[in-house]
Amino acid sequence: MEDIILSLQNIRKSFSGIPVLNGINLTARQGEFITLLGASGCGKTTTLRIIAGLETPDEGHVLLDGQDMTAAEPNRRDVNTVFQNYALFPHMNVEANIGYGLKIRKRPKEEIREEVKKMLSLVQLTGYEKRMPSELSGGQRQRVAIARALINRPKLLLLDEPLGALDLQLRRQMQQELKRLQKKLGITFIYITHDQEEALTMSDRIAVMLDGRFQQIGTPAEVYETPKTSYVAKFVGSANIVYGTVESIQEETVVFSSTAGQESFHSRGRSFTPGQPVTLAVRGEQARLEKGAEKGLAGTVKEKSFSGGMLRVAVELSDQVEFICSRHGIDSKLEPGDKVRVVWEPEHACPVDLEEENQ
Ligand SMILES: Nc1ncnc2c1ncn2[C@@H]1O[C@H](COP(=O)(O)OP(=O)(O)OP(=O)(O)O)[C@@H](O)[C@H]1O
Ligand SMILES: [Mg+2]
Repeated sequence: MEDIILSLQNIRKSFSGIPVLNGINLTARQGEFITLLGASGCGKTTTLRIIAGLETPDEGHVLLDGQDMTAAEPNRRDVNTVFQNYALFPHMNVEANIGYGLKIRKRPKEEIREEVKKMLSLVQLTGYEKRMPSELSGGQRQRVAIARALINRPKLLLLDEPLGALDLQLRRQMQQELKRLQKKLGITFIYITHDQEEALTMSDRIAVMLDGRFQQIGTPAEVYETPKTSYVAKFVGSANIVYGTVESIQEETVVFSSTAGQESFHSRGRSFTPGQPVTLAVRGEQARLEKGAEKGLAGTVKEKSFSGGMLRVAVELSDQVEFICSRHGIDSKLEPGDKVRVVWEPEHACPVDLEEENQ
């Protein structure tokens, strides 16, 4: 389709015989904000470097705007990159830094000045033309780096943890600004972060990566509410994972059984058979702890802690699995040592790690 700006087809890459990317497939549409999310070393930067042409894949193809650019030099690609350390030219002022891309393309001085002005206004740094990078704050420098990339009006902008070095408050503010800029200019962003909250707030789609593969690609809501694997469920929003078997099935409600007890989950259109092993992901804020309940998974309260406006209660289930429940508020009547049951609504338990054909 013509609005597909980027297509990665079965990309594989090894360094010194060690596989780093194991078959990466991704398409990005015009104006889409896609985040690569995953733990350190899973291959995020390598993926970006292959898109930018700074690395060559061992196998697979990189299509940009429908053309196979797998072997093309970086400067032949309509792609710009903003790296984490946002290296500005230290000896050039803000205006010269931002205008650099147009200058090397030998555009007229007047046009460059106009474009720089537009970019400065876009990143809300009007009046900063003559400042040197050393006279800017981290967030301002970051905005200059982004303006310097955007002035080339690339179809595709790659951002490798661009907010990683900023403090939390500035980071939140820059997230909003970046998102606003991206929507306004309609540029496709491929964005890297470790920060799952950042991924959830900014992205149109998130690609959760593990060991050089995408475990799941979906909207923030899909990835959060219907994780496909236990890794995705844990990495995005730290879900609890419980293991058991299918006890019985009644229409869409499946009864799950473990040595800690029984609870139900919604089949979500998949088929299950009694006795089948099943793994469930359950969000801590969607489970409840009840004393004296008839059903649910039995356990003992281990500890209570309060952080980020949430009370977390850790329960050790009778099959030794730890289950964390969280809810708003400072305290609960539960105390360590209390016997409780973990209960949830069937639609809040998501079956994960199912065979492909069952998904
Ligand atoms: N040029 C290289 N030579 C050898 N190994 C490399 C090279 N570049 C990356 N690697 C290895 O490839 C793996 C993936 O690296 P990559 O930089 O893509 O990870 P990442 O997901 O970006 O991690 P981080 O979140 O820490 O930045 C790592 O194990 C890394 O050591
Ligand atoms: Mg990296």
